[in-house]
Amino acid sequence: MSGLEDVVACETSICRIAVEEDRGVLEYRGYDIHELAKNSSYEEVAFLLLFGDLPSKSEFESFKEELAMKRELPPQIIGLLTHLPPFTHPMVVLRTAISYLGSMDKHIQYKSHERSIEKSISLIAKFPTIVAYFHRIRTGQNLIHPREDLSHAENFLYMLHGEEPTETMAKSLDLDFILHAEHELNASTFAARIAASTLADMYACIVAATGTLLGPLHGGASQKVMEMLREVAVPWRAESYVREKLENGERIMGFGHRVYRKVMDPRTIELKILAKKLADEKNPKWYQISEAIEEAVYKYKGLLPNVDFYSASVYANLGIPDDLFVNIFAIGRISGWCAHVIEQYENNRLIRPRAEYVGSQQRRYVPLSDRE
Ligand code: ACO
Repeated sequence: MSGLEDVVACETSICRIAVEEDRGVLEYRGYDIHELAKNSSYEEVAFLLLFGDLPSKSEFESFKEELAMKRELPPQIIGLLTHLPPFTHPMVVLRTAISYLGSMDKHIQYKSHERSIEKSISLIAKFPTIVAYFHRIRTGQNLIHPREDLSHAENFLYMLHGEEPTETMAKSLDLDFILHAEHELNASTFAARIAASTLADMYACIVAATGTLLGPLHGGASQKVMEMLREVAVPWRAESYVREKLENGERIMGFGHRVYRKVMDPRTIELKILAKKLADEKNPKWYQISEAIEEAVYKYKGLLPNVDFYSASVYANLGIPDDLFVNIFAIGRISGWCAHVIEQYENNRLIRPRAEYVGSQQRRYVPLSDRE
């Protein structure tokens, strides 16, 4: 019961996670993650998560067009990004900007399925722009406005770096977004569903999720993984580093998973292949250190890497600054969060569990004047 381990808290038709025949299974709306990783695009996966089925060709074209059209931010949000201290963590910036977007929506309250879809598409479209704009503002660079002719992943890298990415870079980030898009009742999605169960507005639900994702036991782990890769610095130092950390009772970031436990997270399988491909084409250093750490953690603790582990070397080779790693996760996950908020609204019962009280009882109140 501690940490609600194995407690089933709701029904969902968005995502299935399981361990079957010693293999981790992950399906979005019934489609296997490996098949989606091989054949799909982030835009198609976002459609699938929101609407429940793969789009027809015309549905796909109009969905992509709508996403592209909604990328630009209102001037008030750009003003906000300019005024926030440049040292603010970009996830704090993201949640603040989402809240501000809510204040500008005259129809903020939950009303209908159509309206929730509209808000979801707008949030999916704007997440990358918020992140890229803030990064450029804090580093004193001019804003690169979104382009409607680029894919979701291509456009983000273009806005971040100020130049069109190579095909490999765009495809790699697209795959990363697909792998991060959804993962059942993880902590941030549960936070979003709890908020939705009170019929709080979509922005409030997404702020709850964004705040929860940043924690280092959840999405915040990928930034910590990068800190570890930098600290280890060379593959041969990985074993002693891991041994020492474990002997001190410390956790190795990017390892362990509440559901997959002793089997490999299917997303890690895909991310490791992607990390290797990027390492071969760009810088092999981070991948080589990661592999050495993976080996040592398995040797000393029998733990397997989770989705956050190889994400770090992927992002480093895509030229993404360390403190944007969690934001990249959020840019992918926003479609899953929105799908869950809508599912909760439409089959709602207030989520209100109980706690077992373990504190003192029936204590006699002593007036302040009688206390020492
Ligand atoms: N490093 C060292 N030991 C670990 C780790 C780790 N990363 N993860 C679990 N363990 C150990 C625990 O110490 C415990 O050992 P013990 O039985 O000898 O006491 C055992 O494995 C079980 O650990 P729990 O804490 O009970 O596992 P839980 O399911 O509660 O935690 C979690 C899951 C939070 C992901 C955990 O594995 C962890 O802290 N990992 C590091 C942070 C991380 O990578 N988070 C990202 C998760 S994926 C995601 O959110 C997208």
